[in-house]
Amino acid sequence: MTTPGEDGNTGRDNELWQQCWRDRDTAFHQTSVNHQLIRFWPGLGLAPDDRIFVPLCGKSLDLLWLAGQGHPVIGVELSPLAVRAFFKESRIQPSRRKQGRFTLWQGGNIEILCGDFFDLCAADLGPIAAVFDRAALTALPEDLRVAYLAQLRRITPANCRTLLLTTEEPEAGETRDQPFAIADEISSLYAQAFDIELSHVDSVYETDPDPAISAPLRVEQKVYWLTPKT
Ligand SMILES: C[S@@+](CC[C@H](N)C(=O)[O-])C[C@H]1O[C@@H](n2cnc3c(N)ncnc32)[C@H](O)[C@@H]1O
Repeated sequence: MTTPGEDGNTGRDNELWQQCWRDRDTAFHQTSVNHQLIRFWPGLGLAPDDRIFVPLCGKSLDLLWLAGQGHPVIGVELSPLAVRAFFKESRIQPSRRKQGRFTLWQGGNIEILCGDFFDLCAADLGPIAAVFDRAALTALPEDLRVAYLAQLRRITPANCRTLLLTTEEPEAGETRDQPFAIADEISSLYAQAFDIELSHVDSVYETDPDPAISAPLRVEQKVYWLTPKT
C-alpha cells in the first residue's frame, strides 16, 4: 500500500506555485517578520548556533529574523523567482551552485535550496536542531500532508523540534465553539510521534482576498510546539 503522496504525485501543484510567483500572486507573503515567531521562538530554548530548517520558505522575512538570532538557516523553496527576490530585497549578495537536483543559494548565514522539498535527503540539509513551519504544511493539499510529515521526519534528526504556525479558518457548518477542522488534522498527523502543545491562539478578523466577499472572516492563528516523543 502506498502512503498518499508517495505515489509520485507529490509535485502535482508545483506548476501552480511557479505560476503564482510569475504572476506575483503571493498574498501569503508577510511584509514584516511574523510576530508569533518573535514572541514564541525564544521558548524553544535553542542555542544561537543551532541550525534551523525552514521548509517551503518562499521569500519570508522570517529567515532574516532567525539568522539575526545567530542561527545558521537553511530553507527549501521551489521557485527561483522567490529565492532571487529574497536575496535582492534583503540586499544580500548570494553565491549560487548546483547541489544534486537543487541549486544552493547562500548569503551570510542563510542558505536556500531551490528545488522540490520532496526531493530532499538528510545529506542535503546537514545537521538541523529545529524546524520553523509557517504556512508550509498548510500550503499543501490535505492528501499530501502525511507525505510532508513523513519526508520531514526522514530528513531531520529524530530529536528535532518544530515551531508550527497555522492560520485556521472555520469550515462550512462549524460554529464558534467547535474546534476548527485543521486542529483535528494536526492532532491526527503528529500525535503518534510528537507531543503537541498548543501554546497560543490569536483570534483575528481577516479581509477575504476575494473582493466579492466583503464580510471579514474570523480566523485563528495558532502556535504549536511539536516535540518528538522519546
Ligand atoms: C504559502 S507559501 C509560504 C511561504 C513561507 N513559508 C512564508 O511564510 O511566506 C508556500 C511556499 O512553498 C513553496 N512550495 C510549494 N510546494 C513546494 C515544494 N514541493 N517544494 C518546495 N517549495 C514548495 C511555494 O512556492 C511557496 O513559496
